[in-house]
Amino acid sequence: MATHKLLLLPGDGIGTEIMASARQVIAWFDARLGAGTFALEEDVVGGAAYDAHGKAISEAAMDKAMATDAVLFGAVGGPKWDGVPYDARPEAGLLRLRKDLALFANLRPAICYPALADASSLKREIVEGLDILIVRELTGGVYFGEPKEIRDLGNGQKRGIDTQVYDTYEIERIVRVACDLARTRGKKVTSSEKRNVMKSGVLWNEVATRVGRDEYPDITLDHMLADNCGMQLVRWPKQFDVIVCDNLFGDMLSDIAAMLTGSLGMLPSASLGAPDTRTGRRKAMYEPVHGSAPDIAGTGAANPIAMIASFGMALRYSFGLVAEADLLDKAIAAALETGARTRDIGGGGATLVGTDGMTAAILKALDELSA
Ligand code: IPM
Ligand code: MG
Repeated sequence: MATHKLLLLPGDGIGTEIMASARQVIAWFDARLGAGTFALEEDVVGGAAYDAHGKAISEAAMDKAMATDAVLFGAVGGPKWDGVPYDARPEAGLLRLRKDLALFANLRPAICYPALADASSLKREIVEGLDILIVRELTGGVYFGEPKEIRDLGNGQKRGIDTQVYDTYEIERIVRVACDLARTRGKKVTSSEKRNVMKSGVLWNEVATRVGRDEYPDITLDHMLADNCGMQLVRWPKQFDVIVCDNLFGDMLSDIAAMLTGSLGMLPSASLGAPDTRTGRRKAMYEPVHGSAPDIAGTGAANPIAMIASFGMALRYSFGLVAEADLLDKAIAAALETGARTRDIGGGGATLVGTDGMTAAILKALDELSA
């Protein structure tokens, strides 16, 4: 069995707590697949890296990220680092990883586990059985476009500038990722932009339409303005299969989608680069969609499911261990069926557990399902 290299970057706040859970799950699969299947390295990122090195990620950590098979990322940020220089803020570490590893395709699946249909703020019939996938462009758009600055206009006024910019190839490749994934699911892609006010949206719409028509005649590709898409996600989310959108809209729409699943603590993500022309391997990073939750950090109350499911996505997309990934998804569902609930997904009649309790419930379900 080949060795799979994983770089663990727990980060800040609950990042370290949920990464400890992921470690236990990795150890479980390591034992199952043969000790040494996973080779782990670890480093600091975000505020922790700022404290250690004065920057949000060290060059040594970047080198490790470049060389590994997959990065498992926790979460970064917190009030402690509110005052640090903009370029050294914790989020800069995450954005540098995405950009330098060229992880342009961000997959954010929103699945409503049956046991959690009542945990959402939306009605059961709206979310029950939900299984949608948001494909977010991750290395372009307003996150990285230049100029990006605050300009002093010299008359007592300043001007804050961000630049939304997309080239044809960036739109083509993310639409292809969405369409390829749709082929394995419901064969429907909704492309979302704001072509009614943004030139980048006009181009996005044009390119998406062409790629869909010329390369994916078997996929139903439709278009929806991003504001409407946000509204439709809470009105009737089951109309969607795959949603493809730019970096900023994807950031917002995926937070909305998270609430359909019961909690932001449920959403994993995969960020993938292009396949290497020689080896076919993609650079990859897996991270929960949620942040470092400074309000509950240190209390042991964090929901580890998004982190654990992110490792599940690594099994699926980086290591080709599809049966193992399916097993882990089943174990998460089974743990929820037992009534175990962290505070964020707690509801009437549930057994309230902390990070450790939920992790233990998932490990127990793994044992039972594989017995
Ligand atoms: C996300 C986060 C990040 C983003 C932050 C932490 C920079 O919100 O992954 O959705 O805006 O992309
Ligand atoms: Mg976000």
